[in-house]
Amino acid sequence: MRDSILILNGPNLNLLGTRQPEVYGRETLNDIEAHCTQVGDGFGIGIDFRQSNHEGELVDWIHEARGKHAAIIINPGAYSHTSVAILDALLSVDLPTVEVHLSNIHKREEFRQHSYVSRAAQGVICGFGSLGYILALQAQAAEIKSKKQQAMA
Ligand code: DQA
Repeated sequence: MRDSILILNGPNLNLLGTRQPEVYGRETLNDIEAHCTQVGDGFGIGIDFRQSNHEGELVDWIHEARGKHAAIIINPGAYSHTSVAILDALLSVDLPTVEVHLSNIHKREEFRQHSYVSRAAQGVICGFGSLGYILALQAQAAEIKSKKQQAMA
């Protein structure tokens, strides 16, 4: 069975395309999902792409990822700046995690400049719009490959 990556999106990201396009771009979440699926196919990796406006649902999905997915990519949206629960969930499942933001959170309001989730992330990509998801996928595909090579050595 091929490896898969769970890509999680937090609140309000379902509105991409029409939500503050000057900040978040004109692509919809469906566009981003289609692109991730295509790039994932190229790496031989399946993509489970989800969005929720509910913190607990995101926590549940992170728990379910253990034993099911090889890695996580997450854009936690506003929960980045508030959610110890999502941080704890990510620390509990101990899967390689990359955090993504469409906008450069460090160039924006002060309250966006801290992310709880970053403490559980191998890396954070922000400011490159939807390209950030693809960069995160490349990073995770490399991580999965190197883990496999280590396991075979
Ligand atoms: C975001 C940045 C967050 O501050 C904001 O609450 C979002 C989107 C981004 O992708 O740039 O919802 O995570």
